[in-house]
Amino acid sequence: MVDVIQVEGVAKQFKIHHERHQSLKERLLHPKSGSVELFHALSEVSFNVADGETVGILGHNGSGKSTLLKCICGVLQPTSGVIRLRGSLAALLELGAGFQHELSGRDNVYLYGAMLGFSRRMIDAIFDEIVAFSELEQFIDTQVKFYSSGMYVRLAFAVAVNVNPDILVVDEVLAVGDERFQAKCIDRIRQFQEEGRSILLVTHNADTVRALCSRAIVLNSGAMIADGPVQDSLRIFREHMLEQAIEHDRSGSQSQVSIDAITTPSGSFDVRSGAGLHFDVDVTADTAYSGNFVMEVFTRAGLLVSRSAAQGAPVNLKPGANRVAVELPSIPLLDGVFDINVGIMDERGNTVIAWREQAATMQVLYDGHAGGVVELSPSIRQQ
Ligand SMILES: Nc1ncnc2c1ncn2[C@@H]1O[C@H](COP(=O)(O)OP(=O)(O)OP(=O)(O)O)[C@@H](O)[C@H]1O
Ligand SMILES: [Mg+2]
Repeated sequence: MVDVIQVEGVAKQFKIHHERHQSLKERLLHPKSGSVELFHALSEVSFNVADGETVGILGHNGSGKSTLLKCICGVLQPTSGVIRLRGSLAALLELGAGFQHELSGRDNVYLYGAMLGFSRRMIDAIFDEIVAFSELEQFIDTQVKFYSSGMYVRLAFAVAVNVNPDILVVDEVLAVGDERFQAKCIDRIRQFQEEGRSILLVTHNADTVRALCSRAIVLNSGAMIADGPVQDSLRIFREHMLEQAIEHDRSGSQSQVSIDAITTPSGSFDVRSGAGLHFDVDVTADTAYSGNFVMEVFTRAGLLVSRSAAQGAPVNLKPGANRVAVELPSIPLLDGVFDINVGIMDERGNTVIAWREQAATMQVLYDGHAGGVVELSPSIRQQ
């Protein structure tokens, strides 16, 4: 396979100026005061994106995701390392990057097009399509500074996808649009995939990565800590986030909880479709802790089949070893292999306290003739 993006040993450093003298007068009097510190936003990042691949980039706030995308798009120059691109590229960068606020939506479409290397004539030919996709017909001659953030993203996304680039780079922004527009963007991204184009996608949403990406990269403080199948990268990402959250919480003397093992009485997670499944989760707590037990079931293709309510199952952990028994009375799934994730959330269901990604793999055996993921057992009669 041909690589459309090659990133080799890319590093980016920013100079951070620490000024001791803030006022203009003081700065004029002490011109050389203050110090400059080098901040390493990216260090030694290397990966390739093959033709037709969709790669997700995960990482907590400030981990370097946007910096990396800007280097790939040429908005920023890496301090060292090499980036090679094959084919045309269109990018949807962070909110605020790309548009001139004093200009109208119409002028910005041409300006943005020019930035992507399109002549006025070429944009003329696709202008109506762009506006139709954005659904901003009424506002296209309004100055962009009066746009809401959702409208802004609509227009930027409409330009980026309608210029038909070989590579599409999207930074987070999709989350800004309303649900309907988000669905439209996701549909468009899928169409892109079917056409064999390559996509690089930054998001904080694990479900989006599961739904769209074949591979994911995890950045942590500017360094790549994972590059592999989505399931593996998500596990590393979540476990890493959790470690940091726990570190952070320790100062507030939060108790530490860990999930040790997940077992069934028979030792097997094979189950007949329609039958029940019982499993036990062993949890160790440093101190007494009241939280909620949550579980998720995913198909191997990364489709979320079910996530239990974040506040649905209170647990009162005692210091030391605890066991949580989980009873699934009847599993309506069809034939397949499913991953089970389990976790403990805080009392209000807001924060994950402990998590085990892919804690168990369940194999469902079904010998009927229905297709899909779930058996709805419809009762059908002609009237
Ligand atoms: N122009 C700049 N000058 C100095 N520091 C910068 C600059 N741009 C980014 N940084 C720093 O580099 C680090 C990485 O920023 P970046 O925007 O790439 O993070 P991110 O992973 O996209 O975060 P988020 O999830 O919040 O979007 C941050 O600590 C940020 O403060
Ligand atoms: Mg960012």
